[in-house]
Amino acid sequence: MDTITLIQPDDWHLHLRDNQALKTTVPAATRSFGRGIIMPNLTPPVTDVKKASAYRERILAQRPKGSNWQPLMVLYLTDNTSPADIIAAADSGFIYGCKYYPAGATTNSASGVTNLDNMHAVFEAMQEVGMILQMHGEVTAPDIDIFDREAVFIERHLRPLVAQFPKLKIVMEHITTKQGADFVLSAGDNIAASITPQHLLHNRNDMLVGGIRPHLFCLPILKRNIHQQALINIATSGSHKVFLGTDSAPHTQGAKESACGCAGCFSHHAAIELYAEVFDQANALDKLEAFASTNGPNFYGLPHNQVSIELKKQAWQLPDSLPFEDTQVIPLGAGTTLNWKLVE
Ligand code: NCD
Ligand code: ZN
Repeated sequence: MDTITLIQPDDWHLHLRDNQALKTTVPAATRSFGRGIIMPNLTPPVTDVKKASAYRERILAQRPKGSNWQPLMVLYLTDNTSPADIIAAADSGFIYGCKYYPAGATTNSASGVTNLDNMHAVFEAMQEVGMILQMHGEVTAPDIDIFDREAVFIERHLRPLVAQFPKLKIVMEHITTKQGADFVLSAGDNIAASITPQHLLHNRNDMLVGGIRPHLFCLPILKRNIHQQALINIATSGSHKVFLGTDSAPHTQGAKESACGCAGCFSHHAAIELYAEVFDQANALDKLEAFASTNGPNFYGLPHNQVSIELKKQAWQLPDSLPFEDTQVIPLGAGTTLNWKLVE
């Protein structure tokens, strides 16, 4: 088999940043995907319909001519979000979810929620109107080891939340652990998860053995190999409960190669090909379309894309760097060779 045809995939979690960055991130997002769930962690964050509408316009202004790619906007939940904000988001027609960041968990999350227990009226409203909750599932308690943040979050917060709001639709964004994979499989159909290419392709040895590789530093942090294997297993299993979410999150080379480097990997230069590599290695290319193109829209209640894309078996080398803002970004897999390439 040397070509694969897929219903056009979508990206259910990405960071476009703002202003000048949009000139590179938006065209890259449209390269293989039909739609993208746009993360709202700008400074200041996208906390209401007005801000989301203005951000959407800035994004659409950079969409290449002829492209039908759609940005699906998301509100950033804070301690001040009200049920009225949720109803306004549902009525907007262009907001497809609300993102929960535990305050301090990751890049630009300082305005995130400080106590999940104070969000009950908001979750009630979301459950009522069918608004999807996009959950960054990590605890931030200082006594919890960074490698355990996701597993502890599931037991401490997610299980009780799911019990309390049994109809609330929740995406566990970018799961990174066996516990995450097991939880999503055991939960009802209102619970799904997205998985990034870096967590399928790498484990923490790749980031730490032989020297620190800051371009593999993202949050939730890469885990040990048994977790990587659990993610590969669930992604390539054909389960309808997991789908593609790159978490493509560009930072300049300088911001990553620093005494206190930023978290986030840029992957939109070769996103679908990076996933194809994983599925090929697992002998599961026949499961790629479900993961990349149909499970996501099915969960979000949206139609599948009408067009298809083609990947060709062809060795090609990823660039060492790409222009970004006034400088450059080091993309995921920089300089390595992939075996599948999008026919553009
Ligand atoms: C993301 C970013 O840079 O905005 N970073 C990351 O490591 N994934 C934030 C996030 O999704 O956690
Ligand atoms: Zn993210």
